[in-house]
Amino acid sequence: MAILGIDIGGSGVKGAPVDTVAGELLEERHRVPTPQPSDVSAVIDAVAEVAAKFDSYERVGVTFPGVVVDGVTKTAANVDKSWLDAPAAQLFADRLGVPTTVLNDADAAGVAEVAYGAGRDQRGLIMMLTFGTGIGSALFLDGTLIPNTEFGHLELGGHDAEVRAADRAREAEDLSWEDWAERVQAYLRHVEMLLSPRLFIIGGGVSKKSDKFFPLIDIRTPLVPATLLNNAGIIGAAVTAQLAAATPIPSRS
Ligand code: BGC
Repeated sequence: MAILGIDIGGSGVKGAPVDTVAGELLEERHRVPTPQPSDVSAVIDAVAEVAAKFDSYERVGVTFPGVVVDGVTKTAANVDKSWLDAPAAQLFADRLGVPTTVLNDADAAGVAEVAYGAGRDQRGLIMMLTFGTGIGSALFLDGTLIPNTEFGHLELGGHDAEVRAADRAREAEDLSWEDWAERVQAYLRHVEMLLSPRLFIIGGGVSKKSDKFFPLIDIRTPLVPATLLNNAGIIGAAVTAQLAAATPIPSRS
C-alpha cells in the first residue's frame, strides 16, 4: 500500500501518494485552499479532505510550516497560534486512521531534494532554503538532516530576515527583482558567513523563476534551484513517514 504525502502551505494543502523509491508522485496531486484562519481543526479538515481523494494508504507524512518535535508543533510564525504545542501527529493519526508523521515543511522539501533532486550525491554541509510566505531552512550533513533549523528568522538589518526577504515581501511590497535580490543576497551572505555550506538549494514557488534573480546574486557559495519544485514537500513527507515506520522511536514512558 502506498504512503501519502501532504504539504500544508501558505495558500494550499496539497497531497498525493508517493513512490518513495523513485521519488515521484503515483497519482496527480489534489489541492484545497489553506483555510483562513488556519487553526488546528480547520487545517485537519483540509488535510482529511485531501486524503479522502485517494483510495488506500498505510501511512501519511504531513509537512507543517513551523518547528515540529516528536510530532508536536512548537512554533507558528505564519499559521494560527492554536498550533503552538498541538499534538499534531496524534491529531492527524486519529482523524486519518493511520500512523502519521509530521515534520517541518522546509525539512521535508530538503529531504526530497537531497534524495532525488538538486542535492543528490552531495557530501558535506548542504543548505536548502525555501522562499515563500516565510523563509524555511533545512540543513544536511553528508545527506543526514539536522532538523528544525530556523534560519529564516535570523536578524537582518534589525528585522526578522523572512519579513524582508521572503517571496511574500517581494509581492507585498511590489519589489523589483533587483531590489528583492539585494535583500536575498544580504541574507545569503549572512548565512554563508555563519555556516559555510557547500551548496545552497533554493526552493519555494519563486525557484521556478530563478533565472530572474540568480544572476543578480553575488555570493561565494554555489546556488542551485530546487528541481522537484512544487512536489518536494509531498515527496519528502512521504519518505520521512516511511523511514519512521522502519525505525520506530522507542517509547519514553
Ligand atoms: C517558519 C519555518 C518554516 C518557514 C517556511 C517560517 O516562518 O518558522 O518553520 O519552515 O516559515 O514555511
